[in-house]
Amino acid sequence: MKTPILAANWKMNHGPSAAADFMRTFLASYPRQYDRTVLFFPPALAFHAAQEALDDRPDIQLGVQNIHSADNGAFTGENSAAMARDAGAHLVLVGHSERRHVFGETDEQCAEKCAAAERAGLTPLLCVGETLEQRERGFDEVKAVVSRQLRVGLSKLSPGDAADTLIAYEPVWAIGTGKNATPEDASEVHAVIRRELREMLGERSGAVHILYGGSVNPGNAESLLKASDVDGLLVGGASLDANSWLAIVQSAREESSGEID
Ligand code: PGA
Repeated sequence: MKTPILAANWKMNHGPSAAADFMRTFLASYPRQYDRTVLFFPPALAFHAAQEALDDRPDIQLGVQNIHSADNGAFTGENSAAMARDAGAHLVLVGHSERRHVFGETDEQCAEKCAAAERAGLTPLLCVGETLEQRERGFDEVKAVVSRQLRVGLSKLSPGDAADTLIAYEPVWAIGTGKNATPEDASEVHAVIRRELREMLGERSGAVHILYGGSVNPGNAESLLKASDVDGLLVGGASLDANSWLAIVQSAREESSGEID
């Protein structure tokens, strides 16, 4: 059984002061717990404040929301994986739907970013998911889109490194819309991802956590976590308020995971 992972993606919300306030409120009600893992992806400028407020909490890890695929150079406004690692990040989001659809990132760029992350010792959390248009074309299209994003995204990693990544299934139609996938919808696609991973990585694919994301809130978190093959949650809007995030984190128990290793 996997330890559930609860990941908060703050997107472009919570600067340094708000991040520190949030952490103080959250940590006051969330003592160390090892039956689940909590991750935060604050904006880069709030990373240090979040880290300072976190202090000594090995049960909670921080990541960044984006990296450039080059190790350094003339890329004004960008941050490299090595810089993120040096700042204390352990993870990085890659291929989030806003990066793909607002900033035009391709599967190939996602692959480069996963490779850059691994070079620097960061764990990529690769996000995949279909648009509403693609879902309306039928489940074969959903399978094709998600499988391609997964296979290309991980294509520049060794099997060992690929088995160390995290995957999030985030249907684009569910992100920030209030319209979450049902636990059955999520399980159906997670099973596709699990099969693909098994084909690509064999036995070691069993260790990869597959998170669900898209309009998760305190009311639906528990049932999504209990869905088969759902090993955690990636949460945007409902992670911005410390109490709502606490309620989501508290809905996780190790036995929630539908996957038995
Ligand atoms: P949401 O975002 O929870 O606000 O739908 C999820 C995400 O984009 O990771």
